[in-house]
Parts: sequence; C-alpha cells; structure tokens
Amino acid sequence: MRSPSACIAVGSRRAVRPKRNTEAMCGIVGYIGNREALPILLGGLETLEYRGYDSSGIAVCVKGGIEITRATGKLIELKKALAGRKVMSESRIGIGHTRWATHGRPTETNAHPHSAGRVSLIHNGIIENYLELRAELEREGCVFKSETDTEVAAHLLNRFLEQGFKPLEAMRLMCGEVRGSYAFLAIDAENPDRILVAKNSTPIILGRGEGENFIASDIPAILPHTRRIVILEDGDLAEVTADSLYIENRGSIVKRQEQTVSWDPITAQKGGFKHFMLKEIYDQARVLSDTLRSRFNEQEGSVQLPELEKLGAKAKEIKRVVLVACGTAWHACLEGKFFIESFARIPCEVDYASEFRYRTSLIDSDTLVIAVSQSGETLDTLGALECASGKGLTLAVCNVVGASICRKADMVLYTHAGPEISVASTKAFTTQLVALELLALYLAERRGTMSTDERRKVLQSLVHLPSAVAQTLRVDAAVAAAAKQLASVRDFLFLGRGTCYPIALEGALKLKEISYIHAEGYPAGEMKHGPIALIDERMPVVMILQREKQLFEKSLSNLKEVEARGARVVVVTDASPEQALGVTPEATIHVPFVSSELSPLLLNIPLQLLAYHVAVMNGTDVDLPRNLAKSVTVE
Ligand code: M6R
Repeated sequence: MRSPSACIAVGSRRAVRPKRNTEAMCGIVGYIGNREALPILLGGLETLEYRGYDSSGIAVCVKGGIEITRATGKLIELKKALAGRKVMSESRIGIGHTRWATHGRPTETNAHPHSAGRVSLIHNGIIENYLELRAELEREGCVFKSETDTEVAAHLLNRFLEQGFKPLEAMRLMCGEVRGSYAFLAIDAENPDRILVAKNSTPIILGRGEGENFIASDIPAILPHTRRIVILEDGDLAEVTADSLYIENRGSIVKRQEQTVSWDPITAQKGGFKHFMLKEIYDQARVLSDTLRSRFNEQEGSVQLPELEKLGAKAKEIKRVVLVACGTAWHACLEGKFFIESFARIPCEVDYASEFRYRTSLIDSDTLVIAVSQSGETLDTLGALECASGKGLTLAVCNVVGASICRKADMVLYTHAGPEISVASTKAFTTQLVALELLALYLAERRGTMSTDERRKVLQSLVHLPSAVAQTLRVDAAVAAAAKQLASVRDFLFLGRGTCYPIALEGALKLKEISYIHAEGYPAGEMKHGPIALIDERMPVVMILQREKQLFEKSLSNLKEVEARGARVVVVTDASPEQALGVTPEATIHVPFVSSELSPLLLNIPLQLLAYHVAVMNGTDVDLPRNLAKSVTVE
C-alpha cells in the first residue's frame, strides 16, 4: 500500500481558465490547515447558498473524536446551533454541507454529515443501490438514523476502518460497494490529520494553500482563500492533509494539473457561464441522467418507480387523467398528454391550474390528477391540487423535495433537475418531460397497453438522451448568429404541429419572458385561420419542424405559405441536413434525431438558446427579468 502521507505533485502551476463545470445539487466544503476551520467552512457554504438548499451541517475533528452540528433551513439556523459550541470553534479540520434533499425529507436527521462509529461523511450525488446495502448493513447490526442513501457510505467506511484497513484503502473499498454518483468527503476520528475524498460523476475540486488545503463542490466556495485548484476526475480518490494532496485512480497515483482560476466570485458561482440561465441550459445533459437514473431496466422494458406503488396498484382502474400546472410546467403537461394517451391509452385533459381551481371539476375516484411544478410552491397549482384532493388520486411531479405540493399530493415523482436559479425555466422543463414520459411508460406496463418490445424501444432511446442533448448544445453558435440577425425585431411567431406545438408555446414564452419581445406560439395548421394576416417581413416565424413524415410534409406546406408572404424564417428541425425543405430560411438549426418521442425535448433546446441570445443582445436582465418571480406564491 502507498504511504498516504506521500506528497504528490499535482503538476506545475499555470494560469488557465478552468473548463466550465456544471454543478451537482448539494454544496460541499472541506478545510484542513492551521486556521480555525469553522469560519472557513461557514464562509464556503454561504458562497454556495445561491444554489438552493434545505438543511446544512458541519463536522470537525476535536480532541478525542468528532463533533457534528446540523440544522434545517437556512445557514443562519446552523450558525445559531453552532453558537456556544466552543469545542467546535477550535478545530482546524472539518467538512461542511448544504443539502438539497433527494432521498429523505429535509430534516435535521437527514442533514449531512452522517456519522457511523469513528467516521463522519458528507455526500453529493445519489447512491443507487443504497436499499440493498442498507439491508445488508442492518443484518450486520448497523443502526441507521436517517432516511438518506448517504448513511450507508458512512457505515461501510466505518466497517472497513474497523477491519484494520488504512484510511484511503477503506475509502476505496467503500466506493467499490456503492453504485451511483458521488463526491464524498470523510473524516476519521482516529486519523484526524486528513480528509478523505472520492469522486464519481459529481464534481469536486481541491484547493491548494500554504500549510492548508481546501476541498469544495464548486470553485466559489474556496475563492477567497486560494485560486490554485485541482479538478478531480471520475474514479479519483484523494487524501488531503494540511501539506499534501495525494490522488490515486484505480490503485495508481495520478497527477492532476493544478490550475489558477481567473474567475471573479460571481462568474465562479455561475460555473463560468455569463448567466445562470445559460448554465442551466448546459446543465441539461447531466440532470436528465439524474432524472432517469435507477428508474428503468432497459432489458426488461420496465420502469421502476417504487414511489408510485399506490398508482401502480390502481393503474388499470384509472379512466381519466387531468394535468394541472402554470407557465412552462403547463407546457410540459401538454407534452405529458401525448405520452399518457399514446402509451397508456388513458384520456387526458390539461388545464391551467388557475382555471381548474375555479371550475366545477368533475373528479372522481377513477381520475388521476397530476400537478406539475418546478418549485412545488406555485399557489394556483397548490390550489388546484387541493380541489382534487380527497376526490381522485393525486400525484405531484416536482423538483423540490418536501415542497408544499409534494406534501399535499398522495404521491410524488421527483424530477431531479437540481436547483434552478434563473427565473426562466429550462432544465426544469426538460426533466418534467422525461418524468412524464417515464410515468406514461409505467402506466402502460401496468395496463398492458404496450408490448415489452415497444417499451424497450422507448427506453433505449431514453438511454441516448443525455448524449443527444450534449450534441444538440453544439448549435449554440449557430443560434447566436441567428439571434444577432433577429434581435431588433418586435414580434415573433412560433409554429409547430403535434408534439411540437407545446414546444412552439414554450419557445414563445421563453422569448417574451426574458427579452420582452412579443411572441406567440401557434399550431402551424391553425395559422391560416387568423394569424396569417399578421405575416409580413417584420414578423419572423420560427418553425419547429420534426421529421415525422406526415407532420413534416404538412409543416413544410405551412412554411411555404409563410415564406410566400415575405416572412423571415428560422427553421429548427431534426430532419437530416440533406433533406430538401423546398424553402430558403434565413437560418436552419439542425438537432440530432433520437426518436419521435424525444424530438420535442431536443427541438426545445435551440429555442432556449435563441431566447437567451436575443435577450443578451437586447441587454435585459436575463436571470431576473422584470415583473417576474421564480415562484409565484400569489394568485
Ligand atoms: O414552479 P412552477 O413550475 O410551478 O412555476 C410555474 C411557472 O410560474 C413557471 O414555469 C414560469 O412560467 C417560468 N418563469 C417559465 O420560464
């Protein structure tokens, strides 16, 4: 075994701009050195507050053990809990965490750090096999205190340390047992001179100081102390002491280049992007993997949503589905209707929550009412859910664990988009689409409306989604160029057919929200029943054109009608670049084709980018557009 205290050079210092890094949900900070750890940990966690969290906690090594303090709510609560804990304030080594709940409610017991025996550990990510591990550990006599997936990691690490393995070796063995995504930081009461780190699919960085070192989920947390950072890669294990960084990967020592960060603190919070909205658009490839993770078995063509057990048992009795939401979430519901009707063969209605709650809603015990909301706090959506509660079965599709809507509904399906900070919803929308698609497949399986092969085919396409999203994001420069040509226009029309009609609505909403340009979404086939009168060279048309045969040809005819009236046209399509369109648009943006079910999601991404670039060119406040709030808690 390698000597853990060996000091490993992590490459020469060079001033570079670190690769833009998307972030995971929770915030992590670690410190070891000659200063008091507590203010550094709290300061780091404060810097990460912008990302959203529901609880927090800190563990530090003290003489004879580890001391932990945790609290729900804002960091001020943690500070209050820490006040007077002098024993903690003297420590020079510690780990801190802000939790954005994924497994288990946002309570103090579920807050990190989690402890087991001599170990205290924090985690960012999801342990997929935690249920089996927990059962195994319980059989061995471990007592669990929380509902989290993370606690299994603390018990496993403690077990290996108690078996006599050296700290990093114990960490390696623990990581060998867990499946999923993680950034772990752990301290061991019997080795209080080091912090153990492990990374897989979740970002974590080390920061180098003089006689002190730092660890964080994101650069901003340590920027006040050092600009010298080392970005860990998947499979890396690190042992950080006050004077050394030891890194290994699959048993071999590795060198990771040290970089000097040139970002100012605000740019750093945005992961190097100019705005949160752009960062969140780019987050989509990763967060969509989080939405999908552990939720299906591709071979068996089966969707596993244990949280919907109640619905599974009743799936065959459901006669009608009513989807309620506001804004962008309402557009997701329109797509959800397509999924549920075509996969599960249940008639669906979609209603604005603000309308539904003041109508005579005919909900009975065979009706499933689905409330879709990013924040889970939108007052109208909550009101609509309240109207349905007690009459039909209710389900919340939500991003924020423990939000009001989740507490009100009979069941919850979380979207796992991570905190969305920009007022304009982007990644929340695409994760809602995928959650609704999984839900429709889940119902289809239980109602016998799709064969195993048919379900398998849909799941196979979902597997390719994250990489298709990453590929789609390459259109950014082309969209920016189109935006430049169109930024001074005052009105826009977005057209789409079938599943691309809700995308036209969403594209128009995004543009008006952040650029203050009037935009309308319309079903392409309806255009000649009125809006065609508006069309001239001052009214650009964005046509969302999916390759699906019948609709493709019909949409092309609409496009010709538009072109004949002198409109400037932008086509966003998943048709192959070789396919003749018979028109000459001002710009054609191509996205990859994965499957007809996923086309709307991919075709939406260039529209998010279009709205973003037009807004930037017009100098608006992209992340905080005028008159809008992130969650609308008034009627
Ligand atoms: O948090 P919710 O999903 O319930 O919010 C609903 C709408 O307020 C929201 O989608 C709004 O339309 C966004 N600003 C759209 O970008």
